[in-house]
Amino acid sequence: MNSVLPWLLFLQLVTMAAAVEPLRPGFYSQICPPAELIVRDVMKRALIREPRSVASVMRLQFHDCFVNGCDGSVLLDDTPDMLGEKLALSNINSLRSFEVVDEVKEALEVACPGIVSCADILVLAARDAVALTGGPDWEVRLGRKDSLTASQEDSDNIMPSPRANATSLINLFSQFNLSIKDLVALSGSHSIGEARCFSIMFRLYNQSGPGKPDPAIEPRFREKLDQLCPLGGDENVTGPLDATPTVFDNRYFRDLAVGKGFLNSDQTLFTSPRTRPYVRLFSKDRDEFFKAFVEGMLKMGDLQIEQPREIRTNCRVANSRTVDVLMES
Ligand code: HEM
Ligand SMILES: *[C@@H]1O[C@H](CO)[C@@H](O)[C@H](O)[C@H]1NC(C)=O
Ligand SMILES: *[C@@H]1O[C@H](CO)[C@@H](O)[C@H](O)[C@H]1NC(C)=O
Ligand SMILES: *[C@@H]1O[C@H](CO)[C@@H](O)[C@H](O)[C@H]1NC(C)=O
Ligand SMILES: *[C@@H]1O[C@H](CO)[C@@H](O)[C@H](O)[C@H]1NC(C)=O
Repeated sequence: MNSVLPWLLFLQLVTMAAAVEPLRPGFYSQICPPAELIVRDVMKRALIREPRSVASVMRLQFHDCFVNGCDGSVLLDDTPDMLGEKLALSNINSLRSFEVVDEVKEALEVACPGIVSCADILVLAARDAVALTGGPDWEVRLGRKDSLTASQEDSDNIMPSPRANATSLINLFSQFNLSIKDLVALSGSHSIGEARCFSIMFRLYNQSGPGKPDPAIEPRFREKLDQLCPLGGDENVTGPLDATPTVFDNRYFRDLAVGKGFLNSDQTLFTSPRTRPYVRLFSKDRDEFFKAFVEGMLKMGDLQIEQPREIRTNCRVANSRTVDVLMES
């Protein structure tokens, strides 16, 4: 028995680490027919309860997929021996609405236990967030599995700062085979949701020297931002990322074109001549934006790496850890 056990564990690891299978639309149509409806239903209720929550959930796909592929790693809570992504600078006190993901997962576990991955839930929920707020609707590729671990360090090494300039964003996105057009279109996700003063204090009060703001901010808009985020004030206060933060539209791009972008990483897309043509295009043509956004989300959703994987039963906890927790108690 003692000599067999390590081999069994080894074999299990090998099977779990087997090559990443291709994703496909309708992956759950036979094995869990109501899956997509269940996700949309929970998202509808979340939207009614708190409009911002669907934007918050949509953001999770980005933070999940850029760090070791779309594997639900961003959802894992820290454990005594794992510092997870929730601690990373871009995520702490910022990522939110994890309870909506939990609600989706609970409903899916009742309907079809052990079938739908948390990584797929994020991709479905992001699509639904966009569709439910007035954006495009599209078919997503599915069949992802969930990671067993998460790493704060990996997230800190990858996720971009709100202070980032266009060049560094272009370089980062190109590492994921995402084009300049993809970068600009995906940034259009900031058509919904809010950001904290924390994310713009440097921009408002230091960007071009002590006390000096980013000169790209339109003066009246800067006064508004100064009032929202006074020096020394509460940096957890939030403001809208565009003028219509509960509607997924191309208003974000029209705001950028008049110097009313919230984050530096937003406004820089208009300042830089490499990205500006796409900002202009999307500000004038909502359908071009929608088309490019869907393409970008599909590409981002395809990011996968080879690693041991599973279908988690609780999106916050790896299954093996669930066993540990049971044994500890
Ligand atoms: C291009 C680089 C990007 C940067 C630098 C960036 C940065 C940020 C920052 C700093 C915030 C506010 C966080 C806070 O203050 O708490 C934010 C919010 C948000 N981001 Fe991004 N982001 C980027 C791209 C994306 C992408 C690709 C998506 C999704 C496809 C996305 C979706 C969102 C959403 C929906 C919100 C609002 C969330 C809420 O209201 O809770 N972002 N982003
Ligand atoms: C853009 O940001 C990068 C990384 O922070 C920096 O090295 C570079 O000098 C910046 N480029 C410009 C044009 O400001
Ligand atoms: C980007 O594309 C290249 C060439 O097709 C491929 O080798 C590489 O793995 C891709 N990178 C990512 C992160 O998907
Ligand atoms: C502005 O820069 C100074 C000097 O580097 C620093 O001490 C201060 O914390 C910065 N303030 C903000 C709001 O970024
Ligand atoms: C923001 O709120 C969190 C708790 O949600 C708190 O720990 C943190 O210190 C606050 N940050 C700032 C900058 O006020």
